[in-house]
Amino acid sequence: MNKKLSLLIATTFLNCFLLHAQKSKKQNIAFAEQQTKVMLQSVNEAKANSKNTNAVVPRSIKEDGSLALISSRDWCSGFFPGELWYLYERTHNSQWLSEARKYTALIEQEQFDKGTHDLGFKIYCSVGNAYRLTHDPHYKDVIITAAKTLSQRFNPQVGCIKSWDNRKEWQFPVIIDNMMNLELLFAATRLSGDSSFYKIAVTHANTTLKNHFRADNSSYHVIDYDPQSGQVLHKQTHQGYADESAWARGQAWGLYGYTMCYRETKNPVYLQQAERIATFILNNPTLPADKVPYWDFNAPNIPNAPRDASAAAIMASAFYELSHYSKSGKLYKATANKIMSSLSTAYQVKPGGSKGFILLHSTGHLPAKSEIDVPIIYADYYYLEALLRQ
Ligand code: GLY
Repeated sequence: MNKKLSLLIATTFLNCFLLHAQKSKKQNIAFAEQQTKVMLQSVNEAKANSKNTNAVVPRSIKEDGSLALISSRDWCSGFFPGELWYLYERTHNSQWLSEARKYTALIEQEQFDKGTHDLGFKIYCSVGNAYRLTHDPHYKDVIITAAKTLSQRFNPQVGCIKSWDNRKEWQFPVIIDNMMNLELLFAATRLSGDSSFYKIAVTHANTTLKNHFRADNSSYHVIDYDPQSGQVLHKQTHQGYADESAWARGQAWGLYGYTMCYRETKNPVYLQQAERIATFILNNPTLPADKVPYWDFNAPNIPNAPRDASAAAIMASAFYELSHYSKSGKLYKATANKIMSSLSTAYQVKPGGSKGFILLHSTGHLPAKSEIDVPIIYADYYYLEALLRQ
C-alpha cells in the first residue's frame, strides 16, 4: 500500500471516530435537555405539594422516591441554576435563558450569607455562569459582594477560609472541598480590580497544599487549625470512611481545585499538585475499569461498596481542563472520555425517569447514611460541564 493511500485510510477512520464522538456528545446534550424539562415539571409539582415556600431548587431523591427540594441556603442551591445556564450556553434556546435567570434570582440572596464557605458553589456555579454568558452588570455586582462576604471567613493567622462554624469537635475546620470556593475569589479580583480576593485565594491554596496532602498525594478531608497560632490540631474525615482514607469526592475536589488554581495563576506548583492528585487517582488499584470510583478509595467492602458518580463527573470535568495544561494531557483526555462514556451509559437514568435527574449512583454522605446510591444534583452539574468541555 502506498503512503498516500494509508494516510487516506487513517484520516477516514479518524474522521469517522470524531464524527461518532461528536454525535454521542450531541445525543447526551439532547438527553440532558429532555431530563431537565422533566425536572422543571417535577420541581413545580414538588413545590405545589410542599408547605415550605423556601424550598425552591432540586437536590436529590428521598428514600420515599419524592424529589428533595432545598432552599437557597443549602450548599447545593447553585447547581440547578448552573445546569440551566450550561443548557442555554450550548443551545442558545431563549427558554433555557429565561429559566436560568428565574432560578438564579431565587438563590442570589446568598451573596450576603457570612455563615458558610460554600458561597463559591452557590454563587459561582449560578451567577458566575450567568455573568460569563450575559455580561449583565447585576451579576457582576453579586459576584463581587459574595466574594467580600466569603473573604470575612479568612483568618490570616491560619492562612485559610474557615469551612464550618459551631462544630464542637473542631476549632477552625478547613475541608478539601473549600478549594472549589476559590474560583469565586479569582473572578472577583478580575471583575473589581481588588487584588485582596486573589491574595486570599492563593494563600488558602498554599496552606491547603502544605497541610491537606499525604505522602501518596491523597488528601485528608478535614484539617482543624488553632485559630490563634495557625497550628494544625487534627487531620480527620467527615464524609469519608476513616481519617486516613481517601474519600473519593474529596480527591475530585482537590483535582479540580488545583487545576482551576493553575488556570487562574499559572503557578506551576498548582499544576504539579493537580498532576500528583491525578496520579494517585489513576494508579489506585481500587479504581474500577469504568473509572467511576467507589465512594471512598479505601472503602472496606470493595467491590461491593457504592460508587460515587458525582466524584467521577467532577474528575471528568477537571481532567478535560487539565489535559490542556499538562504534558500528560493525552492520558487525562482519554481518562475523561472513558469516564464520560461510562456515565453516559450504565449510569444514566431511564429516559423521563428519576424526576428528571441525569445520572444515577452518587453517594452524598455514607457515614451519615444520607444520599447513598442516588441521583444528586452536583453530579449532573459537573457531568454537563464536562460534556461542554468535551
Ligand atoms: N461539599 C460537600 C460534599 O462534597 O459533599
